[in-house]
Amino acid sequence: MKFALHVNSCSLVRGWGKASFRIAATLVAMALPAVAMGQESARYFRANCMTCHTIGGGRLTGPDLKDVTKRKDKEWLIKFIQNPSAMIDSGDPYAAKLLEEARGVKMPVVAGMNAARAADMIALIEAESKLPESQFQGAKFSTKPFTDKDRATGRAIFVGSQKLKNGGTACNSCHSMYDLPAFGGGRLGPDLTLVYERLKGRKALSAWLISPATETMQPVFKDHPLEVEEINSLVAYFEEAAGHTEANASVTRIAFLLSGLVLATAIIFLFDVLWKGRFRAVRRPLVEGIRRAIHRGPQTAGSASVAAEADG
Ligand code: HEC
Ligand code: HEC
Repeated sequence: MKFALHVNSCSLVRGWGKASFRIAATLVAMALPAVAMGQESARYFRANCMTCHTIGGGRLTGPDLKDVTKRKDKEWLIKFIQNPSAMIDSGDPYAAKLLEEARGVKMPVVAGMNAARAADMIALIEAESKLPESQFQGAKFSTKPFTDKDRATGRAIFVGSQKLKNGGTACNSCHSMYDLPAFGGGRLGPDLTLVYERLKGRKALSAWLISPATETMQPVFKDHPLEVEEINSLVAYFEEAAGHTEANASVTRIAFLLSGLVLATAIIFLFDVLWKGRFRAVRRPLVEGIRRAIHRGPQTAGSASVAAEADG
């Protein structure tokens, strides 16, 4: 009897164990995707949103997203994220205000965005906003005064003698500067001598360079972002440059014209040489042929007459 009881209680315990194990397993199974999804959302935000937004780190190209759900309802935000342009074009006053604050830069449609993802992003932003320090506060720029070394490094980066760590294209292939020789700078982008003032100083210019959002620069730097130290050096160089006047456009233009002239002459010369070569290449066999024909002419005639004579 005692024995049976013991067996009974044993199986009872075992049964409980199984049940609790099952409950625990179910809980883990339910929680796992949530954790994985949280990580996946964070990864997605880091890769696709952090170039323009911080959560609690101040404005970059786009607004600081801390407590955005307190400024605007979630439904609107989820719709906006999926197609910012459409919302702006619809004449929505809140979207118009956002656009104005972003100095006319429109948020792009982010790759892989859909309704579920947008809702996920808003949930992530809301959760991160509650933390005293979000992991998405963004890059912190030094506020230490610039040194001569910073300025020299910045110039070296600008002209490409110091390579960009992430493989970006040197600035001088598209931009000119007051202290570059006439051919030192590219012409695709604007002269950057006064850009420090134009883009409103150290913090704003630094933030701008994290994610250059212009049509030409975004595709070039999207996959080759500038490092924080590189930005610091470049901004040091720009700050110093702001005291100078822009590269003299007329001198540059004359030099450009002259070089064009030299180049044109060189091309004409080259064509001349090539053409003569080709002409000779056609003419030489022709002349040779005629000469051979002339030389052969009397010979053939002679041998024919000799043959005729021999026959006769
Ligand atoms: C190229 C820069 C850029 C990227 C990348 C970007 N945004 Fe934006 N975002 C903006 C700008 C600029 C605005 C302000 C509206 C405008 O001008 O289009 C904005 C506005 C917003 C707003 C509304 C903010 C407010 O104050 O109401 C939310 C929310 C938002 N973005 C979320 C995101 C999320 C989430 C991602 C990533 C999936 C993202 N953004 C990627 C530039 C960007
Ligand atoms: C492939 C060419 C190209 C390269 C390389 C390039 N830029 Fe630009 N950048 C442009 C163009 C073009 C513009 C003008 C806006 C536009 O049309 O996209 C511009 C605009 C800018 C502006 C804004 C100027 C203003 O007055 O608003 C800054 C700042 C800037 N570039 C900095 C840099 C820096 C720093 C580098 C090097 C790390 C660099 N750029 C490399 C093409 C380039």
